[in-house]
Amino acid sequence: MNVKETLLGTLAESGGEYISGAMLAEKLGVSRNAIWKAVKSLETEGFSIEAMTSKGYRLSAENNRLAEKLIQVYLKTESFGKQIIIYDEINSTNTCAKEMASAGISAGTVIVADTQNAGKGRLGRNFVSPKGKGLYMSIILRPSFDINTASLITSATACAVADAIEKLCNHDVRIKWVNDLYMNGRKICGILTEASLGMEMHSVDYAVVGIGINIRNSEGSFSRDLRVSATSIEEETGMKIDRNRLCAEVLNSLEKYISDIESRSYIREYRNREILTGNTITANIEGNTIIAFAEGIDDNANLIIKLPDGTIKHLSSGEANLCRVID
Ligand code: BTN
Repeated sequence: MNVKETLLGTLAESGGEYISGAMLAEKLGVSRNAIWKAVKSLETEGFSIEAMTSKGYRLSAENNRLAEKLIQVYLKTESFGKQIIIYDEINSTNTCAKEMASAGISAGTVIVADTQNAGKGRLGRNFVSPKGKGLYMSIILRPSFDINTASLITSATACAVADAIEKLCNHDVRIKWVNDLYMNGRKICGILTEASLGMEMHSVDYAVVGIGINIRNSEGSFSRDLRVSATSIEEETGMKIDRNRLCAEVLNSLEKYISDIESRSYIREYRNREILTGNTITANIEGNTIIAFAEGIDDNANLIIKLPDGTIKHLSSGEANLCRVID
C-alpha cells in the first residue's frame, strides 16, 4: 500500500481527531516531509484535510471525496464491500456491475461513481446523477435463494437504505411502493435491480442492485419536471451527509436484510414505511392508467389495490402514485 492510501486510512480511523505529523511519520515509517507531501497530494485529488500547527492533521468533516479506505473504515459486513471500485465518472454503475458480474467478479463487490453520464432509472427512464451531489452505487449479488425470493431484493433494499439514511440523519424516511424512498413527501432515492437468470430460468445467476441517493442537490439542480417530486437529504434536513459513511451504512444494513430475506420478516417494516397504503392512487396496469384504492402490501411485497368495481388485484411491478386532488 502506498503512503497516501495508508495515510488516508489512518486519518479515517482517527474519527475526526487530529494526529500529529510526527506520529503519522512514525506509524507509516516515513519522514514528516513525506507526510506533508502526501497530504498536499491528497488535497490536490480533492480530499479535504485540515492542518493545525500544534495538533497535526485530520480529515475534514466536510470531506466529500469518495475513497475505498474511507468507506471501509465504517464497514461491519462479512462480504459486502470487501472490494469497492470507485470511478470519478462512468456511464452507469449498474451497467458496469453487470459487465463485471458476467465476467465472474465475486459477490459483494460494489461499484461507486462520483457521477454517471447515463444513469438508469426504472421503466427506461434516466437517473440524473450530478457530480459530487449523490451516492450512486451498485452491489453484485449471487443469490442462493430461488427466483421468487429474488423478486423481493428491491423491496428489502428499500428498507435497508431507509434504515441507513435514518441512522445518519435522524429523519423519517418513507417508501413509495415499490422502490422509491421519500423524505417530507418527495423522492430522495431510487433503486434499480437488474438480474441475469440461470440456465433453467428458476434461479438467479447474479443480481445487480443499483441505488441512487440525492444527497447534496439543491432544488434548482433538478430538471423542471422533477423539481416538484424530487429533493435531497441536504434540502430536507440541512445536513451535509458524508457519502463514504452513508455508502458503508447502506452496505452494513443491506447485508443484514439480504441474509434474512427468506424469512420475509422485513415486510412488516416495509408496510410501516409505505405511503400509498390507505390512499386513492393512480396505477399503471398494462399501459392503462387506472384509479384505485391502495389496500396494503402482501407477503410478496406486491401492492394490493381495490378497483372502483370492487375487484382486488395484487400488483407485482409497475408504478403507482398518490392521487392528487386539484381544487
Ligand atoms: C429509479 O428511481 O427509477 C431508479 C434509480 C436507480 C438509480 C441508481 S444510481 C446507481 C445505479 N446505476 C444506475 O444507472 N442506476 C442505479
